[in-house]
Amino acid sequence: MDTSTYKSEVAAAFNSAAATYDRLGVEFFTPMGRRLVERAAPAAGARVLDVGCGRGACVFPAAERVGPEGRVVGIDVAEAMIEEATKEAALRDAAMVELRVMDGEHPDFAPHSFDVVLGSYSVIFLPDAPTALARYAPLLSPGGRLAFTSPVFSDDTFPFLPPVFTELIPRELLLDLPPQWQPEQLQQRFNSWLADPRDLTRTLERCGFQEVTVVDEPVTLVAESGLAWVDWSHTQGMRLLWNHLAPDKRQELRERLITSLDAMRDGDGPLTIETPVRYVTATVGN
Ligand SMILES: C[S@@+](CC[C@H](N)C(=O)[O-])C[C@H]1O[C@@H](n2cnc3c(N)ncnc32)[C@H](O)[C@@H]1O
Repeated sequence: MDTSTYKSEVAAAFNSAAATYDRLGVEFFTPMGRRLVERAAPAAGARVLDVGCGRGACVFPAAERVGPEGRVVGIDVAEAMIEEATKEAALRDAAMVELRVMDGEHPDFAPHSFDVVLGSYSVIFLPDAPTALARYAPLLSPGGRLAFTSPVFSDDTFPFLPPVFTELIPRELLLDLPPQWQPEQLQQRFNSWLADPRDLTRTLERCGFQEVTVVDEPVTLVAESGLAWVDWSHTQGMRLLWNHLAPDKRQELRERLITSLDAMRDGDGPLTIETPVRYVTATVGN
């Protein structure tokens, strides 16, 4: 699979998901985005770039922090995500927010345009993330900060899903995926540099960053039921897996996931899963 085919598939998946993305009552991306912004701590008046901003899980918490004198630019390759985030910015009367359709691998901004670059669960979708990250360093002002999240990967996980969920997916169902969408292939091709904190640190240093920190911390994912989780999974990266399964396997996976997720609930209570998230921060030199 060439890079442009892959990118088009990712953009198409998120365009189809945008109308309900992060709006199905499952708590995950919003608390993670808020926590990432807390860690990045943009000051009042700061200029922030959010790469792969989606519907604004980081954009709006960042806008609250930078205030009316600041600027928050959200970019995303999926037009429909930008449309939804633009509506939200209008509702909130957030004049410091600017949203643009743009490929995160080719950010088109002048040097030193930003004090903080963010990317929550988005860097993992970039086919050549290290090259993209190297392009973010010169966009930052001296002493500026990069902050992003990713799943805490192991080598055999489906790249866009926290391992806690991959473990619930029977391997024999994944064997049905086309070779280029097999988890190991995707993981090795795109995200292996994120699995080990030492590789990650070395990669960021080669990209022009320093003072790298890697902290794994859980986000409490809450869904009403196994069914609610499965419906939600069609609106995030797992949509790429659903899209490539044959209809009978898709149905089988759906039923098996609902059963195993419901078994994790306490009676009729909600499904609550402590989901490890990797928070990475780094700075550029003065
Ligand atoms: C899992 S969502 C995360 C969205 C948002 N950051 C959040 O936390 O809710 C991943 C986002 O990355 C975007 N994305 C994927 N590849 C991209 C690329 N090459 N350039 C810009 N955005 C990209 C997707 O369209 C999607 O909105």
